[in-house]
Amino acid sequence: MTTLLKVNNLKTHFFTHTGVVKAVDGVSFHIDESEIVAVVGESGCGKSVSQLSIMQLVSTPPGKIVDGTVEFEGRDILRLDPKGKEMRGIRGGKISMIFQEPMTSLNPLLTIHRQLTEAMEVHLDLDRSQIHDRAIELLDMVGISDTDKRIHDYPHQFSGGMRQRIMIAMALSCNPRIIIADEPTTALDVTTQAQLLELMSDLVSKFKASLIIVTHNLGIVARYARRIYVMYAGRVIESGTAKEIFGSPKHPYTRGLLNCVPRLDTKDETRLVPIAGSIPNLVNMKPNCAFYSRCQHRVEECKREYWPVLRHITGLHHVSCHAC
Ligand SMILES: Nc1ncnc2c1ncn2[C@@H]1O[C@H](COP(=O)(O)OP(=O)(O)OP(=O)(O)O)[C@@H](O)[C@H]1O
Ligand SMILES: [Mg+2]
Repeated sequence: MTTLLKVNNLKTHFFTHTGVVKAVDGVSFHIDESEIVAVVGESGCGKSVSQLSIMQLVSTPPGKIVDGTVEFEGRDILRLDPKGKEMRGIRGGKISMIFQEPMTSLNPLLTIHRQLTEAMEVHLDLDRSQIHDRAIELLDMVGISDTDKRIHDYPHQFSGGMRQRIMIAMALSCNPRIIIADEPTTALDVTTQAQLLELMSDLVSKFKASLIIVTHNLGIVARYARRIYVMYAGRVIESGTAKEIFGSPKHPYTRGLLNCVPRLDTKDETRLVPIAGSIPNLVNMKPNCAFYSRCQHRVEECKREYWPVLRHITGLHHVSCHAC
């Protein structure tokens, strides 16, 4: 498979008056052509900042990409001017993003037609009527009915699930190579979540795009993602195929995440076990394993002042843990 995007040793830090927040601290991952991968982890572990860094959308200051590369189409796109033409062509054109809460991404004062056609006018070489037809076609594809009329409505005239469908249409509108969906269904009920994930996976395969799903819920990606990266405190602590991660999770944190997910194939009396404690403050972190204080399998070595390297197990499976 051909690698489409390769993130290497990415470090994005926030320089605040209380200290340096190492939100992303040496993260590497890649996505192949027509692949769906998931980035999973608890709130605050650096999922969004890592994805925003790819798009050069981290607010600077206080944020700064201090190290790393993002290889896309044969070059390091972190070296491009964030406001320059090339980066603007990539952002929204070749790589598009769907955010958690569509109301913050959709402009309440503009019709769906205006918002859906805007990016196409910038990125595609089509005339107005072709763009209009494409907008209608996209809305049809994401399951909005009565599109001729509804396209002239405003965001508040749609339900949360429909708004997220519109966001999917917008993300696909310029034929992107990659879509980054950052918690695209978190604010929605479980049935709508499942429908939208199904829709996204169908459409990315139709458009031959790749999809990065960012989520804190390992359960929802099981069906769709080919590979999974588990993040903790700004780093990837385990990665592998969905089969490897679900079939033989190694890191105590990954196992903890899986224990929090309801499963249909276990006995009724099996209880969900939350992970004790909370994610550490990322300001001025110590260099030892950040999961140490919450880990029930810790060994003497975990106290030592170095982070466990991400080591290969079998196949595509890697884990960063002294104890497993
Ligand atoms: N502008 C900022 N200034 C300071 N710290 C920030 C800023 N933006 C993010 N951070 C910090 O970076 C860390 C990672 O944040 P990020 O948004 O990537 O988390 P996340 O994994 O996406 O969480 P969630 O699941 O809640 O969306 C957090 O500790 C957060 O507080
Ligand atoms: Mg986030």
